[in-house]
Amino acid sequence: MSKSASNTDEFEGRVAFVSGAASGIGRAASRLFAERGARLVLADLDHEGGESAAEAIRATGAEAVFVETDVAEGEAVARAVATATERFGRLDYAYNNAGLSGPPNFVSEMPEAQWRRTIDVMLTGVFLCMKYEIPAILASGGGAIVNCASGAGLIGFPGQSAYVASKHGVIGLTRAAALEYGSQGIRVNSICPGTARTAMVEDVVRETPALQQELEGLHPIGRIAEPEEIAEAALWLCSERSSFVLGTALSVDGGYVAQ
Ligand SMILES: NC(=O)c1ccc[n+]([C@@H]2O[C@H](COP(=O)([O-])OP(=O)(O)OC[C@H]3O[C@@H](n4cnc5c(N)ncnc54)[C@H](O)[C@@H]3O)[C@@H](O)[C@H]2O)c1
Repeated sequence: MSKSASNTDEFEGRVAFVSGAASGIGRAASRLFAERGARLVLADLDHEGGESAAEAIRATGAEAVFVETDVAEGEAVARAVATATERFGRLDYAYNNAGLSGPPNFVSEMPEAQWRRTIDVMLTGVFLCMKYEIPAILASGGGAIVNCASGAGLIGFPGQSAYVASKHGVIGLTRAAALEYGSQGIRVNSICPGTARTAMVEDVVRETPALQQELEGLHPIGRIAEPEEIAEAALWLCSERSSFVLGTALSVDGGYVAQ
């Protein structure tokens, strides 16, 4: 291993880019990266949430800058990723995590706009992030990229065709990029979270409270995840502790897809 396996400083001197960093899993991952020594570029559509996430990191003495970004827009993504090199001189890791959920609709009722926006943000968004991150990471001598897929990237869910298709796409895109850049020193992997207690899930549970218990029962571990439990997997895949892991789709789901 080229770096210490200690959790406390394993990203010292390194720079990480996190999309969807204003909330939930992305916010938790940003905080954990900073706690372990990384400087951060946070990207999100949500200006207020993104600034508050960056400020919370800076309050601990770590360095973080927020860039308002729609990951579906190539120019915006290019600008956000370039911030890493402009502000911190390098880019080592990326956690491409921005995502959204839409109302359930079977395919024949799915509005075309919902389909397109879901694919644009969650699949094309990951493509655009990697497109600009890869040259920057190569210029820094290599690193790692983790893309956020989902259990919905491995199995289907009725009413969620756009989400399911985008997440299956993220896993395929991750595998192709891993094969393209693994020998050049960038390990690209994806994670497949089960249900985590984030805004995305809390919004749905607020509308249908009975869903909370139902969701817990769906996970063989008997509960849903805290955002940090998912973020830990993303950080592990960035760290040297996963130095031989390439192109994988790592389930972090309390046994959901093992059933
Ligand atoms: N929470 C879960 O149960 C769960 C399960 C499986 C996968 N995931 C995935 O985890 C990732 C993070 O989700 P979360 O649960 O933390 O949700 P969240 O809603 O808390 O966070 C998602 C963030 O992405 C941002 N975002 C949305 N569209 C964007 C865009 N176009 N450009 C930039 N930022 C944008 C939002 O503003 C928000 O800050 C998503 O990719 C989601 O699909 C979540």
